[in-house]
Amino acid sequence: MILIKLGGSAFSDKSRPLSFYEEPVRNLALLIKQHGITPVLIHGGGSFAHPVAKAYGLDRGIRDDGQLIGVSLTSLALSLLNERITSIFLKLKLPTYTIRTGAVFVRMLSGLRLSSDVVDLVRRLVEMGIIPVFYGDVIHDYKLGFSILSGDEIMVELAKWLKPKYALFLMDVEGVYSKGPRMGELIRVFKPSTQVSYSVGGVDATGGLMSKLKHAIELASMGVRTYLCSIMDQESLSLILTGGEPGRCTRIEVR
Ligand SMILES: Nc1ncnc2c1ncn2[C@@H]1O[C@H](COP(=O)(O)OP(=O)(O)OP(=O)(O)O)[C@@H](O)[C@H]1O
Ligand SMILES: [Mg+2]
Repeated sequence: MILIKLGGSAFSDKSRPLSFYEEPVRNLALLIKQHGITPVLIHGGGSFAHPVAKAYGLDRGIRDDGQLIGVSLTSLALSLLNERITSIFLKLKLPTYTIRTGAVFVRMLSGLRLSSDVVDLVRRLVEMGIIPVFYGDVIHDYKLGFSILSGDEIMVELAKWLKPKYALFLMDVEGVYSKGPRMGELIRVFKPSTQVSYSVGGVDATGGLMSKLKHAIELASMGVRTYLCSIMDQESLSLILTGGEPGRCTRIEVR
């Protein structure tokens, strides 16, 4: 079992609202086809969802009724984005099946909850060879009314149940750099103690790379082989999928 997070940075320019690049998504679909695998795919919101979620303050919960229209707009933007992504897969005759994330995840006072029926469904879909697709979404929250569930957090939650062998986080950059995106050196092995500088490019409502690394460390702690790679780096991704070590990318190591 393989979990792939298709990061918003991989298919959109997060500083330009509603931007979408087809080529990187096509690249990923071709890679999946070439290796004959059925991963579980989780995509981010990119510049489709982050700007609207942020404009309505959804990252801080619901405090007035005016924000509810923002919930609908974010949800609509994500579903349109999901259509664009899955259409690219379909053009290559790769079957996908989207599971509306906000309908199966809720944030309770005790933490995130995913119904066990959904876990069973995902296993069945993978066995059949149809790619289950989730996405970072605005979900019901028992305390805040609504809150945002990032694609990176979905990776962790699904991994608890599905026990994948690999988790791949795909982005526009080749991995984690020591001094900010494409600045300093590419860190090949990232450990919890590794120090990096972050920079925020564009609008982000879910904590950017720092939060991604926190989730990636959680995955690695569960024994999942976890990498952060560029979506355009076919060579490294192919190597990972065939059990090798990639030439680029950042691998997360916890011990
Ligand atoms: N030190 C760093 N090394 C590498 N990338 C960095 C660094 N600091 C900031 N970044 C930025 O982090 C981004 C990845 O995290 P971000 O949450 O913005 O994207 P994503 O998770 O792919 O998108 P989404 O949240 O929409 O799914 C990269 O696009 C990069 O520009
Ligand atoms: Mg992100």
